Amino acid sequence: MLINLLKLLPPESAHQLTIKLLKLNLTIYGKKAEEFNSLKQTILGIDFANPIGLAAGFDKNAEVIKSMLSYGFGFVEVGTITPRPQKGNPKPRVFRLKEDEAVINHLGFNNYGSEKILKNLKSFYSSQYLSGIVGINIGKNKSTENDIDDYLFCIDKLSDFGNYITINISSPNTPGLRDLQLRGRIETLVKKIQHKQNEIEQLNNKPIFIKISPDLEDEQLRDIALMSLANNVNGLIISNSTLKRSNTLTSLYKNEVGGLSGKPLFIDSTIILKKMYSLTNGQIPLIGVGGITNGNECYEKIKAGASLVQLYTALVYQGPKVVSKIITELNSLVLTDGYKNISEAVGKSS
Ligand SMILES: Cc1cc2nc3c(=O)[nH]c(=O)nc-3n(C[C@H](O)[C@H](O)[C@H](O)COP(=O)(O)O)c2cc1C
Repeated sequence: MLINLLKLLPPESAHQLTIKLLKLNLTIYGKKAEEFNSLKQTILGIDFANPIGLAAGFDKNAEVIKSMLSYGFGFVEVGTITPRPQKGNPKPRVFRLKEDEAVINHLGFNNYGSEKILKNLKSFYSSQYLSGIVGINIGKNKSTENDIDDYLFCIDKLSDFGNYITINISSPNTPGLRDLQLRGRIETLVKKIQHKQNEIEQLNNKPIFIKISPDLEDEQLRDIALMSLANNVNGLIISNSTLKRSNTLTSLYKNEVGGLSGKPLFIDSTIILKKMYSLTNGQIPLIGVGGITNGNECYEKIKAGASLVQLYTALVYQGPKVVSKIITELNSLVLTDGYKNISEAVGKSS
């Protein structure tokens, strides 16, 4: 199996090779996922064939949207995209924690920049044969005069494309980025973005999600919930990778610097998700991310309050067949609980 060969390469080389193969359209991994009526939902006006999305960071440059949709993802989030291209932090900067089914990365928003990625998005939309939902995740350059202006610049530049936009203020590898989550700063950011949303016609009906960290304290979570309700924030993505290291980690790489993702993130990110669902009274659509490796865990996120979910690290360990596996398992779980549609299960354990 190719996935086992890829695991023999250093993580970043394996990723680069994967992107190259996907760009060649070599559908090497398997068959397309089945569609189930029980998993179809309309969220914020967007029709999702299933609730499982590809999390940001896999297709940073919007190069392989079509291939990833063809593996069965209900939606693909590209980015994080910054206004100008940047190389990111010095290598090595991605580590596989095999024994823990986790990854630590301190990539630092390596991406081709908004100009080049705009071209990739144009070419996806002009050649599209599949209907598919695309999210555009944006961030700020490492060195920038005004961080909020970087978000406004990307929104302006990329406004013609994508079904929704994600404001990433939670990656741990860009100095100062997470400070945008602080009370006052986040509200200023949201207000300026909403102003821009009203200015540009194409953005009027395009939802904007804010992606938050799993490392927020309860008070910060409460602030974000209240701010989101007061300002009609469209949706929240919970969560990015964590800086915390639980003492259950066993891999040699457990003390590498950066954001930890994968299995060990599942519990903390789900707790935060559940808290946010209750703090927002279930009024704001949430996307649950962090440590999903199977249908059960996916269903737990839904029952904790997520309308949709995303994953990344499970692809590293299981390859893209994990998508159809989760879809099939999720359909059974929903039907076994007596629901006709997954939307009925949202928040049921909160
Ligand atoms: C190698 C790698 C790169 C990532 N890059 C980004 C990124 O550019 N922007 C972002 O919002 N999240 C990024 N993430 C975080 C994921 O989108 C996701 O929130 C996190 O990995 C938790 O999900 P998982 O446990 O299923 O991987 C990255 C994750 C990994 C593993």
